[in-house]
Amino acid sequence: MSKALMQLSGLSKRYPEGDTERVVLDGCDLDIRQGEALAIVGPSGSGKSTLLNLIGAMEVPDQGALWFASEDLARLSERARTLFRRRHLGFIFQQLNLVPTLTVLENLLLPLELNGTLDADGRRHALALLERVGLQGRDASFPEHLSGGERQRVAVARALVHGPGLLLADEPTGSLDRETASVVLGLFDELRREQGMTAVLATHASEVAAKADRSLELRAGRLQEVAPA
Ligand SMILES: Nc1ncnc2c1ncn2[C@@H]1O[C@H](COP(=O)(O)OP(=O)(O)OP(=O)(O)O)[C@@H](O)[C@H]1O
Ligand SMILES: [Mg+2]
Repeated sequence: MSKALMQLSGLSKRYPEGDTERVVLDGCDLDIRQGEALAIVGPSGSGKSTLLNLIGAMEVPDQGALWFASEDLARLSERARTLFRRRHLGFIFQQLNLVPTLTVLENLLLPLELNGTLDADGRRHALALLERVGLQGRDASFPEHLSGGERQRVAVARALVHGPGLLLADEPTGSLDRETASVVLGLFDELRREQGMTAVLATHASEVAAKADRSLELRAGRLQEVAPA
């Protein structure tokens, strides 16, 4: 397959816990290949969200490197990491992180605003994406008036609106019924084909993992490739 978009080597992450510490990631190595759909699986608490947060430069590892375009994200300044996220990443958080005081459309336009690329085309694109996830006509609603699955779909559309090269999706279909989940996964596939987007999905759902090109399981802080079914 094609070249690595990102290379993770020897990633470790620990969190303090009372007088000791909890080792969540313990030397993870991974090449994320350009254009692939990669699933990260593993039981609750195994470190899937922690790993996505490192890949997305939301947090930095205690040890190890994340090479992206000949730069180690672990060694970038906070500001440089922020710019990396804005330019290259779409992030669907497990907790969604929609802004409650903004409407659905305003939430969707945030990534474009932050990148300074919001124009009439961007608004049309945002509305089109909203329709793609089945939320046409909900642009003026506030997140608190939406169902859990509707909110999740707003978070999906927001992560995609600026055409990111790398999508990081943390349980992106957790609140969706099977049919809506399949619409969302189909949208990711289309964007991978059309725009060469790479997708890394953390998931408990075996249907989601089964659709990925590769699955890796987190176990005792390490990543192991899961043999295809
Ligand atoms: N900021 C933090 N401070 C302390 N401990 C943390 C922090 N973030 C995560 N952890 C711990 O790291 C471990 C892994 O958490 P993580 O959220 O990465 O798991 P997960 O695989 O995403 O689980 P789930 O499937 O439930 O979402 C957990 O034991 C959690 O308590
Ligand atoms: Mg998680």
